[in-house]
Amino acid sequence: MTQQRNLILIGPMGAGKSTIGRQVSSLLHYEFVDSDHEIEERSGADIPWIFDVEGEEGFRKRESAMIEELTLRSHIVLATGGGAVMREDNRRAIAAGGIVVYLRATVEQQLARTSRDQNRPLLQTSDPRSVLTKLMGIRDPLYKEIADYVVETEQGGVKDVASKIASLVSDDL
Ligand code: S3P
Repeated sequence: MTQQRNLILIGPMGAGKSTIGRQVSSLLHYEFVDSDHEIEERSGADIPWIFDVEGEEGFRKRESAMIEELTLRSHIVLATGGGAVMREDNRRAIAAGGIVVYLRATVEQQLARTSRDQNRPLLQTSDPRSVLTKLMGIRDPLYKEIADYVVETEQGGVKDVASKIASLVSDDL
């Protein structure tokens, strides 16, 4: 396989992309970059504010620009937002930008990990379970379409999953 520049994590909200990504980055000695965090830094506003003021469409435009920019970098572990795979341009940039790992989580796990979080506008509803279930139905095929590896996050803690990913990708990077 040709040398790849980056490790890119995709998957739904609450799959652990940031927590696991940070851990893998230290194992690989790569810089960790979180797309949502970069969007917030760049715009000087948090994600709920961007959704409020610009709508989801405004957020998606910012997200596409950020994905395009970050996937051109080298030697980073990039955590993407759960909806980044919705746009074809983003999928193309992610697939070309490095080794892509789909972190898979059950809706149950996602709910447990996001229940106290107010930073995800799509889940500020009375029925986050049905939102997560619906989004998974739409997005799971898109995650799979561009994934080089699919990793279940159900078994093992953060450290175990991170080591598993590091050993999976170490020959490719
Ligand atoms: C979103 C996921 C979030 C964030 C935004 C929209 C989504 O990122 O980008 O709230 O559409 O699934 P995380 O996957 O890091 O929670």
